[in-house]
Amino acid sequence: MVSYGALAVTMVVVVVTVQWLGCNFAEGYPEEDLVVRLPGQPKVLFRQYAGYVEVDTKTGRSLFYYFVEAATQPETKPLTLWLNGGVDVCMTYERKFYFNLPEVQHALHANRTRLPYEWSMCTSRVNYRGIDSNISMLPLLKRIIQNKTPVWIFSGDQDSIIPFLGTRTIIRELAHDLNFSTTLPYRHWYHRDQVAGWVTEYGKLLTFATVRGAAHMVPYGQPARALHMFSCFVRGRRLPNNTHYPDDG
Ligand SMILES: *[C@@H]1O[C@H](CO)[C@@H](O)[C@H](O)[C@H]1NC(C)=O
Ligand SMILES: *[C@@H]1O[C@H](CO)[C@@H](O)[C@H](O)[C@H]1NC(C)=O
Ligand SMILES: *[C@@H]1O[C@H](CO)[C@@H](O)[C@H](O)[C@H]1NC(C)=O
Ligand SMILES: *[C@@H]1O[C@H](CO)[C@@H](O)[C@H](O)[C@H]1NC(C)=O
Repeated sequence: MVSYGALAVTMVVVVVTVQWLGCNFAEGYPEEDLVVRLPGQPKVLFRQYAGYVEVDTKTGRSLFYYFVEAATQPETKPLTLWLNGGVDVCMTYERKFYFNLPEVQHALHANRTRLPYEWSMCTSRVNYRGIDSNISMLPLLKRIIQNKTPVWIFSGDQDSIIPFLGTRTIIRELAHDLNFSTTLPYRHWYHRDQVAGWVTEYGKLLTFATVRGAAHMVPYGQPARALHMFSCFVRGRRLPNNTHYPDDG
């Protein structure tokens, strides 16, 4: 929900999974962030939380978050962090309408300070300094991977905002920097009876995948392929190399 427009110069989307290996330091959730009912959302069997995380109290900066638990045995499931960058050029209107509904903002515990302007997908009010948009994500990704956390980077192969070739090259360079060998040579993967994209893996930890026929917003353009990819990621499986593979169970 936070658009990092220019920050998304190198990566479209990064998904990271963290397995808390039986550690107890993760304290519960702030109950006041529990989303009791989200307008328009059908009845769901999982708990969801939304609110702000303070990142800089001195200058009053917070980041909005949305957290969804697994429907069953959430305490045993890995934690997935989804960092979504990029501008969405197509679905601005419906989002703008929905996220400006007072009852939606109330349900999500958003806009607590009653800002004097509307929410929009992309705003110049955040006023990122140009120099910030030049900060590379690669050192951070490297640290995450060095802590043995699997990272998948994916890109729609019809993304004309951030063409996938640049991301693919950068990921290959990152793998080289980590001294990773190619554990899966670049090949196609399947969804139902069709090629759904291409995938490669380095050091059994770093995966780069494309989604065929998807543009900048992958789940929007190719929802079934995106769900299949996401479900393989969450289950710690590689993307299937044949057509005889259950969709997402
Ligand atoms: C915040 O809330 C106020 C008052 O309800 C509303 O007028 C404004 O458009 C909202 N702004 C944002 C950024 O959500
Ligand atoms: C960002 O980096 C590019 C390439 O190194 C450089 O040309 C540009 O001036 C930088 N922009 C800012 C605002 O630092
Ligand atoms: C990769 O290998 C080179 C040469 O052996 C070494 O200097 C470097 O520290 C290694 N990098 C990592 C991230 O392990
Ligand atoms: C296809 O994937 C399966 C499961 O990961 C693996 O056992 C098999 O060797 C792969 N086949 C080819 C041709 O890569």
